[in-house]
Amino acid sequence: MLTIGVLISGSGSNLQAIIDQKEKGSLPVEISCVISNKETAYGLERAKKHGIPSYFVNPKEYSTREDHEKVIVSILKEHHVDIIVMAGYMRILTPWIIHEYQNRIINIHPALLPSFPGAHGIQDAFNYGVKYTGVTVHIVNEGVDSGPIIAQSVVSIDQNDTLDTLESKIHQEEHQLYPYVIGLFANDRITLDGRKVIIK
Ligand code: GRF
Repeated sequence: MLTIGVLISGSGSNLQAIIDQKEKGSLPVEISCVISNKETAYGLERAKKHGIPSYFVNPKEYSTREDHEKVIVSILKEHHVDIIVMAGYMRILTPWIIHEYQNRIINIHPALLPSFPGAHGIQDAFNYGVKYTGVTVHIVNEGVDSGPIIAQSVVSIDQNDTLDTLESKIHQEEHQLYPYVIGLFANDRITLDGRKVIIK
């Protein structure tokens, strides 16, 4: 069975969606560990409630980003992680870890990439005034939100939407799309052709 390790920094609602699908029997993966760079991330509580080993790795204790990631990787290796799932992990990964897990790190971004990359995808799309935004799941490469796109869902921005209503629409889509994509990996349906992701 595919073994995943989940990196978080906050609420962990995407982590919860993955846990829920797994517990319903519709996602054949083992969620072997959850790692956060924030001690107060609520996602750590969610993991504990479901008996998933959870770790806070404090970046302040390490002088370089790579040293911090080396500790993370040692935890991931201890748990035999095949795929790293970034679910609201708010740090940019170094080339070192990206090479260590080449094409085996995925991220979810709350906009239709390549539009609105970066830390404020929902707000940036809302302020720009686009009529459609959405959610992207992609393989992580060395750029920011620039890796090969695996799947996207479209979310419309209606006249009556506020930033809050848009955020909740985006999150609802995320909670469908991320477990779906992880299921594709679990069923060995993803291959790469250059930067194009082929779903078999
Ligand atoms: C999500 O909107 C995700 O797209 C972005 O960070 C947010 C994480 O939310 N990368 P949560 O912690 O999963 O609730």
